[in-house]
Amino acid sequence: MYKIFETVDEVSLYTAQRLLEKIKAVPAAVMGLATGSTMEPVYAQLLSALQQMPIDVSQLITFNLDEYIGLNAQHPQSYNYYMYQHLFNQLKIPAQNVHLPDGLASNIETACQAYSHAIENMGGLDLQLLGIGSNGHIGFNEPHTCFASRTHVVELSEQTRIDNGRFFTEKSEVPTHAITMGIQDILRAKEIILVATGRNKTDIMAQLFNSNIDEALPASALKQHHNLTIVLDREAAALLPEQAFKSAV
Ligand code: F6R
Repeated sequence: MYKIFETVDEVSLYTAQRLLEKIKAVPAAVMGLATGSTMEPVYAQLLSALQQMPIDVSQLITFNLDEYIGLNAQHPQSYNYYMYQHLFNQLKIPAQNVHLPDGLASNIETACQAYSHAIENMGGLDLQLLGIGSNGHIGFNEPHTCFASRTHVVELSEQTRIDNGRFFTEKSEVPTHAITMGIQDILRAKEIILVATGRNKTDIMAQLFNSNIDEALPASALKQHHNLTIVLDREAAALLPEQAFKSAV
């Protein structure tokens, strides 16, 4: 199902409300969370709604999608740091309920397996929030990642390193590798919300709309999911046919 709004504010408000509804309905919900520019206004709206109407988040469990390899939690570009800056410093979830992939794990393969197991042990993700890369990645699952993949180490594509270079002083500082939940971990979520905003996402959203399910376009894996909402602003949806605007496609 597509939900298309005029502005980023409306997209973020709608997405934050969906998260809130989930927490209200399932106080011990297991939430898969994303980072990136798209999520900043979503988390800001969520925090502002919670300020106006506090609800109990003490049972909430979170699993982040991904983390750069080689950056520690204090590094301002690590996803761990991002999550505390944009959400966890204000949202009082017990520390043991927060899960972030460890980009500094000494045995990274074991850490990857343990991460997917931890999600399963919690009963799986109730809701997975996703952004999308301009090359169609979800999490850091780059084009041609196997759809059966579980949490694993990836070599970041040139496109992703260029896109994410905007957060670093020099592109050479962008890590070359990351740890990411696999596509199978994502697909097992009971509900998925993919959010994309802005001109940088116009082409990929059109490609996704028109594509078959194909490992060359990681986000196309989501087309097999039975409970997917794609939330877009007018710019990201600019090349979508009228059909997408009207309905549940
Ligand atoms: C981040 C993540 C990535 C981003 C994607 C879009 O945790 O999993 O897939 O969602 O790269 O990033 P932005 O929102 O910065 O365009």
